[in-house]
Amino acid sequence: MDSMVTCIAPVNIAVIKYWGKRDEKLILPLNDSVSGTLSTDQMHAKTTVMRCKDFTEDKIWLNGKEVSFSNPRLLSCMKEIRRLSRESGTSEDIVNTKVHICSENNFPTAAGLASSAAGYACLVFALKELFGVKQDITRVARLGSGSACRSIYGGFVRWHKGDLADGSDSIATQIAPPSHWPLHVFILVVNDKQKKIGSTPGMQRTALTSELVQYRIKESVPKRIEDIIQAVKERNFDKFAEITMKDSNQFHAVCLDTYPPNIYMNDISHEITSFVHTYNELFPKPKVAYTFDAGPNACIYLEEESVPDFAATLQYIFPPEETLESYFKGESVQFGTVNEGLRTYPQQSPGLLKYIIHTKIGDGPKRLDSS
Ligand code: DP6
Repeated sequence: MDSMVTCIAPVNIAVIKYWGKRDEKLILPLNDSVSGTLSTDQMHAKTTVMRCKDFTEDKIWLNGKEVSFSNPRLLSCMKEIRRLSRESGTSEDIVNTKVHICSENNFPTAAGLASSAAGYACLVFALKELFGVKQDITRVARLGSGSACRSIYGGFVRWHKGDLADGSDSIATQIAPPSHWPLHVFILVVNDKQKKIGSTPGMQRTALTSELVQYRIKESVPKRIEDIIQAVKERNFDKFAEITMKDSNQFHAVCLDTYPPNIYMNDISHEITSFVHTYNELFPKPKVAYTFDAGPNACIYLEEESVPDFAATLQYIFPPEETLESYFKGESVQFGTVNEGLRTYPQQSPGLLKYIIHTKIGDGPKRLDSS
C-alpha cells in the first residue's frame, strides 16, 4: 500500500436540491437529491495525503495554510476511514499511523461554488487509497459535507436520503456515466459583495421554521426524483430543463419561507432567470436550464448544440466589463449568432457578470500519482 497519494475530485451541481437535515451529526438529509458532476479539467479540489510512522499527530493544510484538525466533520471522516480500513483487513500498524493532508482548490472561492463538496470528496477518496478501504465511501464523504457524497461519482448522481437512523443507507449512486449525456455547463459568476448565510446554518433555519419545506420533501421531490432520472436516461432535455428550473425555484421559495429568510439570489440572478425564460420561449423546446445554489451565481445546463448561439446571445445581453477573450474561461467557445428575438431584450450594463466558466459533465475523483 502506498504511503503517499494525490487525487483530484470534481464539483457537482444539484438539479434536485438537498436542503435540510434529519440528523445534523451524521448529515442525513430530509430528501433525496440528484446532481451532475462537473469535469475536473476546469474545476477540482486536489489533495495529497501522506502517512509516516514518524508523524505524531494528524495535520491538515488548506490552500497552503495549516488549520486545526479539531473540526468535528473532519474528525468523523478520519474515524470512519480508519474503522473501514480495519474492516477491510489493513494491518493495525497502518490504520493507526498518523497522516498529513494538503488540500487545495484550483478555482477561486469567489466563484462561490461548492468547494466543500469537491474538498471532502477528494479527501475521502485519497484516504481510501492510502488506507486500503474497500467499502462504499460515499457515506464517509457525506460526513464531511452532505453534497460531497455526490462528487464521488462522475456523470449524473443520486443521493438517497435513506431511512435508517445510523445513516448506513444514505449513500450516493451513479444514475448514468458522463458519456451517456455529456451536457455542457456555464457557470455565470455574478458580481456580488453581500455576505450570505452558509448552507449549514441556512438549512437548519429552514428545517426549524419553514412550512413549505414539508410540502417540498413529501410532495414535490419524490416525484421529481423519479422524473428527472427518467429524463436523464432518455436524454430528454426538455423534461430535464423544466424539472431543474422548477426545483431551483422551489428551493429558493423555501429559503424565502424560512424565518428570518435566507436570501441567496440577487437582482442579477433574477435578471438571468428571466433572460433564460425569454431565450427558451423563442425555441420550440427549452434550450438551456438554470439552477442556483445557496448564492447568486447561475449554473446553466445546456446541450452541446446550443452552446454557440447561447454563448453569443448571453454575451450580447450581459456584456463583459473587460476584454472578451477573458470573459469565457474553461472550454473554448465557438460563438454562433445572437438570437434575433432577443435583439429587443434590454441589454444589461457591462460587468454584471464577472466571468463565465464553460465546462461540462465529467468523471469522478481520480488518482494522480502514488509512491
Ligand atoms: C444548495 O452540502 O454544503 O448546494 O451538508 O451542511 O455541508 P452541508 O451542506 P452542503 O449543502 C449544499 C446545498 C446546495 C444544494 C445541493 O448541493 O444539493
